[in-house]
Formats: sequence, structure tokens, C-alpha cells
Amino acid sequence: MDSATVISTSGVAQLARRGDIGILTIDSPPVNALSQKVCAGLYEGLNALLADAGVRAIVLTCAGRTFFAGADISEFNKPLDGPDLYAVLGVMEGAQKPIIAALFGTALGGGLEVALAAHYRVASQNAMVGLPEVQLGLLPGAGGTQRLPRLVGAAAALEMIGFGKPVGAGRALALGVVDEICAEGAQLAAALAFARRAIDGKWPLRRVQDDDSKLLADRGNTALFAEFRKKNARAFAGFKAPENIVKAIEAAVALPFAEGMKREAALFGELVTSDESEAQRYVFFAERAVSKIPGLAPQAAPRKLAGIGVVGAGTMGGGIAMACLDAGYVVTLVEQTQEALARGLGGIRRNYQAAVDKGRLSAAQLEEKLARLTPVLEMEALRDADLIIEAVFERMEVKTALFAKLDAIAKPSAVLASNTSFLDLNEIAAATRHPERVVGLHFFSPANVMKLLEIVRGAQTGDDIIATAMAFGRKLGKIAVLAGVCHGFIANRAMHPRTAAAEALILEGPLPWDVDRALMAYGFPMGVFSMMDLVGLDVIGWDAATSKSETVQERLCEAGRWGQKRGGGYYDYDEKRVATPSPVAARIIHDVAAARGMKPRGFTDEQIIARLLYPVVNESAKLLEEGIALRASDIDIALIYGYGWPVYRGGPMMWADQVGLAKVVAGLEAQNITPCAPLREAAATGRKLHTL
Ligand code: 3HC
Repeated sequence: MDSATVISTSGVAQLARRGDIGILTIDSPPVNALSQKVCAGLYEGLNALLADAGVRAIVLTCAGRTFFAGADISEFNKPLDGPDLYAVLGVMEGAQKPIIAALFGTALGGGLEVALAAHYRVASQNAMVGLPEVQLGLLPGAGGTQRLPRLVGAAAALEMIGFGKPVGAGRALALGVVDEICAEGAQLAAALAFARRAIDGKWPLRRVQDDDSKLLADRGNTALFAEFRKKNARAFAGFKAPENIVKAIEAAVALPFAEGMKREAALFGELVTSDESEAQRYVFFAERAVSKIPGLAPQAAPRKLAGIGVVGAGTMGGGIAMACLDAGYVVTLVEQTQEALARGLGGIRRNYQAAVDKGRLSAAQLEEKLARLTPVLEMEALRDADLIIEAVFERMEVKTALFAKLDAIAKPSAVLASNTSFLDLNEIAAATRHPERVVGLHFFSPANVMKLLEIVRGAQTGDDIIATAMAFGRKLGKIAVLAGVCHGFIANRAMHPRTAAAEALILEGPLPWDVDRALMAYGFPMGVFSMMDLVGLDVIGWDAATSKSETVQERLCEAGRWGQKRGGGYYDYDEKRVATPSPVAARIIHDVAAARGMKPRGFTDEQIIARLLYPVVNESAKLLEEGIALRASDIDIALIYGYGWPVYRGGPMMWADQVGLAKVVAGLEAQNITPCAPLREAAATGRKLHTL
């Protein structure tokens, strides 16, 4: 085949010709998002090739690492200046020459919608295609909900669009999303060959919108949609987009294409202006911002980590060891006694065995992981470890003694990390001769499951240690958030006021189950009292020796109601640990309130939420004021991944902005809490808290 001749390059678009086939290549790094600039390039490029009498077919592709990865998420609120995506799709569907899209990388969202408006699609075998808009609180708004069901049928479209999970090229071919797959990197050559066959064979212009055949079978099949809604009600609860997606696909099945498109546009319009989508789009960028640490020395490269040492084989140490094993590291696990070591190892094996039983892990994988784990009793075995993570008893003198010892044993290049949840990292680091190599790695329990990892920077922690810790977090598949030293760091400190407010509130009227119900309706996966019962009331700040029967927790603990493990705490539990409101706990609460002269009154869910979560907003803003968190969005990310703060609320900072900061400030003052300076200033100046 002749080589292509470049006709023109203007902005993001390059036009070329290979014989009678025109090639339009868009180059807009990093991911060829369909910004206004890209849409203009597409619009003009397509029109130029369509007007060129010597061009008989068009191949559309991208330069760089991927086909269009979607609409440009940062431009949703930007006023339109020039042709938009709809205008581009109009040109494509009106074309009288075959257009072949050459897909590679990640053809997502609007990117796949562009491809669906082409007449044919060729994909590199490692390409991923999908409509992930639901994850941004949106639906595919450029015809995706109408065209994809025509290619794959309603049931497959519900799965693909409802969950937004991209599929590989092989699956896309089997489903009918693409027409051909080719070797990796050969998509342009394959699309050109495809175009040649289309020209020579005088193939018809195959517009997806014209073929209803796959949808006819589902016309009138209301059960399909009802079942999808029912099956996924739990997963979709609180999110706005899934329901609109189902409605749009219902419209694709029931209505002619043009009417379906109108319905899609209306449903998209509802979402794009919704609080939920604003929050989810913000989270998309916040998740990416969190890994960027301004001010690190440019030469601060991450150290190479191969062998990891974990000290302490309790619940945390075991979980941390598993997280490291899962990421492929070699792990040495140290305990003080054979018994504790055997217990820890037993726990690790049991956890992996449970994954095998559920079919998530093979028996061979289990053995391979355990083969990388060396259990020992001698601390000296950590001599060669590149990173040592301490997960021992949470008491300062225990930690400082350990760090002094580790400092002597570890090789000079080793990083020393503490998993402390509350203690002062600087004091721990001061026990070593090299505080610059000490960092906090605060895992959340269960450490092998929870996505949040707080990386705590001590006063002297080296930049390269921070870079190493961030890279380690990424390798573990965690969302690593940088925190400064304070009691509780970011997530625990920000959420502490919620617990305190909940404990105070139950003396004023709402009972634990009322509070928990309000929190779950807000979107938390669990209520605060259920959580305390799960953890154990005896281990969260109760001491039998000093208990004075004054608080509800003291009274519950004194009565042996330590939570789930004792069959009762705030709730009663049956043998399957199913919770029911406890009349015993209700009586204790009543008695404690009466002893303090308090009379119960009614609260709405909204009042309960304000009471519990406004103080979290205030504490979060304090974390910014004190420089503990780098950015407001880091706090939101920490609470989404550490505490299950619903992603469609965007975390406390975004949520506070959506509620209105003046209202939050007034709500705090009504609770006799002084709003901190950043919160007051933002409320007064109209600045958005989530942008700080
Ligand atoms: N718009 C704007 N910026 C985007 C973007 C998009 N659609 N997709 C990615 N980016 C940016 C990221 O913010 C990041 O910027 P940064 O370097 O400044 O932080 C950069 O591109 C690279 O992204 P990642 O760090 O995520 O790179 P990865 O290689 O890990 O992942 C990806 C690439 C799979 C494309 C991933 O970025 C992704 O999933 N993007 C979003 C895809 C998506 O949701 N598309 C649908 C958009 S909505 C839509 O199309 C509406 C339509 O129906 C009308």
C-alpha cells in the first residue's frame, strides 16, 4: 500500500490521504478528550474530507496513547464556542462516504459514541471500549444509550451502561460493538484495509441508528427492565444516573431513534445539572490530584522496594502483610512469641482460604502468596528489608523502643514506617538516628481491603521517603493521601466529631437506630452505632477500672453489652448477628438522659445529618487551616475511601458547598460550635470550600 500523504495539519487535526482513502487523525494529549477544540477539529476535518471528491472513504483515528477517552470532563460548564459533539455526529451520520473508526487504547464515553456514529469500527486487540458515564453521575449523552442497544441488545446495554465497566476488544467483537479486531498497534493499517474492501465491495453505509432488529425482541419486555432495577437496587441506591440510564434504554427499545435521542437529551440534562454528577466529576479529578505533592525536591525519586518487613502479626499487621503479598512483595513478618506468630499466620491463611472458597483466588495462588511470606521471631531478620512497617501495640513507649531497635538493625537505605493511628510520629522518629527515613503509613482496617492509605509526613521526613511511600501506596492499589502530624491525622480526626455528636444526640431524642437510619439514607454504608457495636464498645475508650456509670457507653459496657461479639451493644444481635433495636439500650439511654434532666424531642433526618456532619465539615476545614491536609479535595478523598462517605455527595467539603456555607456556619453556631476561620471566610466571600 502507498504511504499516506499529509494534506494539512491544523490545531489538533491532521488530514492525510492514502490513495482514495482520507485519514483524519486527532492529536490532543493526554487522552484525546473531546474538548471544544477537538470537536472543532473533527468537524472541520470530516467536512474537508467529505468535500474532497478524490476521497471515497474516511478512516478516523487518534494519535498518542488512546482513541478519544470521552467528552472533556473539565468543560461541562463551559459556554459553547463552535461546533459541539452533536454537530460532529450529525456530520458523520449524514456522510455519503463510509467512515471507519480505528480504535485503540481506551475508547470511552463520548469517544465510543463517536465510533458508534461511524459506519464501521476496527479495534486493536488490547483496546478497551465502554460507556463509563455512570461513574461521573451522567449517562452517555451523545447517542450512546440509543446506538449501543441497537448493536448489542437491551440486556447487554443495561449492563454496559448501567455499570460503566469497559470491555475488552474480544468481548466488544462478540457483542457486535466492533466489526473487526487486529493486532496491537495495527488499527490504522487494519482500518485502511477495511476501507479498501468497503470501497471495492460497494458496501452500504451502515448507520447504527437504522437497524432496530436487536431491539425488536425486547419491545414490550417490561420485565427485563423491572428485574434489572430490582436486582441492582442496592448498588444503585442514592445515585441518580442509573435510573435515568434505564429510562433512556427503555426509550431506545420503545421509540423511534429520533425520539429516543430527544429522551436521552432530556435525561442527560437532568443529570448534568445535578448535585450528584457535580460531586462525582469533582471526585474524578480529586482522585488524580491527590497523588500530586507540590514542592517535593525534583531529585526525590522513589526508592526501590523489594522486601518488606512487617512487625506485629495482629489484625493490622496481618492485613498489611496481605496487602504487600497481594502486590507481589516478599514479606518478613515478625512477632515476639511463637503463639502470636502462629495466630497471625493462621489468620492470613484463613483469609486467603475464604477467597479460595469464594472462587476469587486459586489454591495455587494462595500457596504462591504464602511462599513469599517468611514468619520469624527475630527482629534481626529485617536486616535486608527495604521497608519496615510497624504495627505493634498503640503505645508511645512501645513504639519508640521498637524504632530505636529497628534503626540499629535496618540497612541505611531502609524506610521505617509506623502504622500508628493517633500517636505523634515526630516523637517516634526522634527515637531513631535518622528521623528523615521515618514516615507514617496509616492503613485502615481491614488493611488488605480498605483503599485508603494515609501517608504521614513527619517534621523531618525526607522528600524521597514521601515519594517512596506514595509509589508504594500506588503499587498496593491504595489511594494514598498525604497528611501532616496531628492526633488522628485526616480521616479519623475529621470523623471524630460525628461520633461525639451522635453520642450526645441520643440523649436528646433520636435513638441509635434513628441516627443510623439517617446516616444510611444519606449514603453511608453503615451507621455510627452499628459501627461501634461491630468494633466493640469495650475497645473504644472504655476502661472497666475507671468506669463511672455516667455515659451510655459506660452503662452498656458495665452491663456486658460490648457489641456484636456479646450479642448486644446499642443493638441486640441474634446468632447470625442480625441487629434489632434494643429495648435494654433504649432504657439505658432514657435513664442517662433523665439523670441529666434531658427531655426527648423529635428530630428530622435532615436535622440529624446537620447535627452530625456539620462538625465534620468544620474539623475538615481546620485540617486545612493547620496544614495537615494539602487540599480540601484530599480530605474528601480520604473520607470517601476511609469512611464510605458517599461518592455522590463528594465528601464533606463538596457537600458543604452544595448545602451552602452560610447554612453550615449558622448550623454550627446553633450547636454552640465556633466555625473555624477558613469556613467562615469562605462563607463570607463566596469561595467554594472544596477548591481550597
Ligand atoms: N476529560 C478531561 N480530562 C481527562 C479525561 C476526560 N474525559 N480523561 C482523562 N483525563 C485527564 C486526567 O484528569 C489526567 O489529567 P492529569 O494528568 O492532569 O491528572 C490525564 O487525563 C490522564 O488520565 P489518568 O491519570 O486517569 O490516566 P490513565 O492512563 O490512568 O487512565 C483513562 C486513562 C482510562 C482514559 C482514564 O483517565 C479515564 O477513565 N478517563 C475518563 C473516561 C470517561 O469517563 N469518559 C467519559 C466522559 S463523559 C462523556 O463522554 C459524556 C458524553 O457521553 C457526552
